[in-house]
Amino acid sequence: MTLTCFASAKGAPGVTLTALGFTAARAAAGTPTLLLEADPSGGSLAIRYQLGRQPGLITLAAASRHGLNRNEITAHAQELPGGLAAIVAPERHDRTAAILRADGGRLGRFLADLPDLHIVADCGRLDSETLATGLPSQADVLYMLARPVAEDVQPAAALAASARDQGVPVGWVLIGDRPHDPAEVAEVTGTPVAAVLPDDHRAATAMAEGRAEGRGRRSRLARAISAFAAETAPLGSGEEAEQSPARVEPTAHEPKPLAELATEVG
Ligand SMILES: Nc1ncnc2c1ncn2[C@@H]1O[C@H](COP(=O)(O)OP(=O)(O)O)[C@@H](O)[C@H]1O
Ligand SMILES: [Mg+2]
Repeated sequence: MTLTCFASAKGAPGVTLTALGFTAARAAAGTPTLLLEADPSGGSLAIRYQLGRQPGLITLAAASRHGLNRNEITAHAQELPGGLAAIVAPERHDRTAAILRADGGRLGRFLADLPDLHIVADCGRLDSETLATGLPSQADVLYMLARPVAEDVQPAAALAASARDQGVPVGWVLIGDRPHDPAEVAEVTGTPVAAVLPDDHRAATAMAEGRAEGRGRRSRLARAISAFAAETAPLGSGEEAEQSPARVEPTAHEPKPLAELATEVG
């Protein structure tokens, strides 16, 4: 079906939380969806939800060396509270990074081709090597998360540009819309904005802890992630195509300092 990758270039903008929410929304909408932890700096779900490290990325990677069977994928997944299926990575960054270096590209090719399963991968903080040869190189779409500040956008834009050069469609998921608005980020970086999520630390914490905000109402952040997942639903789920045109509005205002990036990003 499809391999959707989430990543960042710098900081901790909310890749794990967004990937979790996106997976949950897709699964709730009836698309068989599995979350894969593939962050070279190590997994966090096993610790957070007190799960064993196996089955998980360790067993999946080992199986992939001997020829994976399509029907066995879910055997490497564990159930998170709330019922979501996830393939967890070991928290040790050296261990996870080594697995992804050795097996990431092959796993990506395999996972992107599964007939009945949509894979959402939390690729964590990307570097150019992981992008060129690892799991994200096989993505049907790569979403780069960043806060719209120059020091976060610039390194992520460089990775986005090289992903595009490799033929991987890429879009921004921006956390907040200040100081640089989405249209400006899109224009300056040449990468469309797929979603703008509210910058809301309280809601993010509540979501990570599995609590609903307020009197049982879902937060704006949770709803924004669900809407994003619905708008970009993969082919075959009865929704519109993954690569629906991103909401990129033309900019009519004066160039702001972020425009300096254009020369560096190319
Ligand atoms: N949309 C958001 N707005 C504000 N804070 C967020 C948002 N998403 C995540 N966070 C917070 O940022 C921190 C890092 O989140 P996490 O999902 O682990 O990021 P990453 O995987 O990029 O390191 C957590 O404290 C989380 O609650
Ligand atoms: Mg993370």
